[in-house]
Amino acid sequence: MDAKDMIYSRRSVRKYLRTSVSDDKINDIVRYLTSIPALDEDISLRCDILGADEVSVRQTWRAPHYLAVYSEPKPRYRQNVGFVYQQLDLYVQSIGLGSCWVGLGKPKDSSGYEGYEFVILIALGYPDDIPLREIGDFKRKPLEDICDTLDERLEPVRLAPSATNSQPWYFEHLPSGEMAIYRKKQPKLIDNVLGKFNEMDIGIALAHLYLAYPLTYEYEYVVDSPSPKGYIYEGTIRI
Ligand SMILES: Cc1cc2nc3c(=O)[nH]c(=O)nc-3n(C[C@H](O)[C@H](O)[C@H](O)COP(=O)(O)O)c2cc1C
Repeated sequence: MDAKDMIYSRRSVRKYLRTSVSDDKINDIVRYLTSIPALDEDISLRCDILGADEVSVRQTWRAPHYLAVYSEPKPRYRQNVGFVYQQLDLYVQSIGLGSCWVGLGKPKDSSGYEGYEFVILIALGYPDDIPLREIGDFKRKPLEDICDTLDERLEPVRLAPSATNSQPWYFEHLPSGEMAIYRKKQPKLIDNVLGKFNEMDIGIALAHLYLAYPLTYEYEYVVDSPSPKGYIYEGTIRI
C-alpha cells in the first residue's frame, strides 16, 4: 500500500514482536526519510535509531526500536517535526511495520547534538497485532467539529493521530478560497504538558493534507494573522 493510503487504515501500535527490524527495512526507512519534504526546509533535523534499552519511557509496553528526533529550535520547529515524521510514520506502516509516537519518553543519553533540541521518540517494530482498521473504528470528532463549514476535503485531517487523541485543529474558510488552520488553546495547566505535543499534532494534520492533495497543497505562515478566541493561528493553506 502507498504511504498516503495508510491515512485511512493506520493506528498506533503498542504491541510488538521482539524481533529486530531487518537491515533492509531500516535502510528503506532512512532512504525515505531523506526524500521527505519539510514544512520549513530551513530547519535542520537529526534522528537516531535506538534500542529499547537506550530509552527511558513511561509506557508499560516496549518496541524493539525507537527513533529519537532532534531539531534546531527555530520558530514552529515542532510543527515541522510533526509534518516530516508523520510522513515517515505512514511510510513505516505501509511497509508492514508498526509505529507509535511516544511523547512520554527520552533517550537515556541526554548529551544530544549541539544546536539541536530533543523533540520526541517514535516506537518502531514488527506489529504483534493487526495494525490496520476500518474508518468506522477511528475514534475521532465529527467533521463539523473541526471546520467552520462542512468540507469533506478535510477527512484526511479528521483521521490524523494526535497526542492523547486531543485533535486540537480547527479550520476556517477564508474569502480567498484558502483556509486558516488554528490550534485549540488548552487550559494553562494542561497546556504545560500538552501544548508542545499539540504543536506537533498541527504538523501531523498538515502532513495528511499534503499527502492527500500533493499537487495543489500550499502552506504559508502569515505573521500577525488574527485568530478566533480560544485558538492560536498556525498557518494558511490551500488544497
Ligand atoms: C505527539 C504525540 C505524542 C504521543 N504520545 C504517546 C505516548 O506517550 N504514549 C502512547 O501510548 N501514545 C502516544 N501517542 C499516540 C496517541 O495516543 C494516538 O495517536 C491517539 O490516541 C489516536 O490513536 P491512533 O493513533 O491509534 O489513531 C502520541 C501521539 C502523538 C501525535
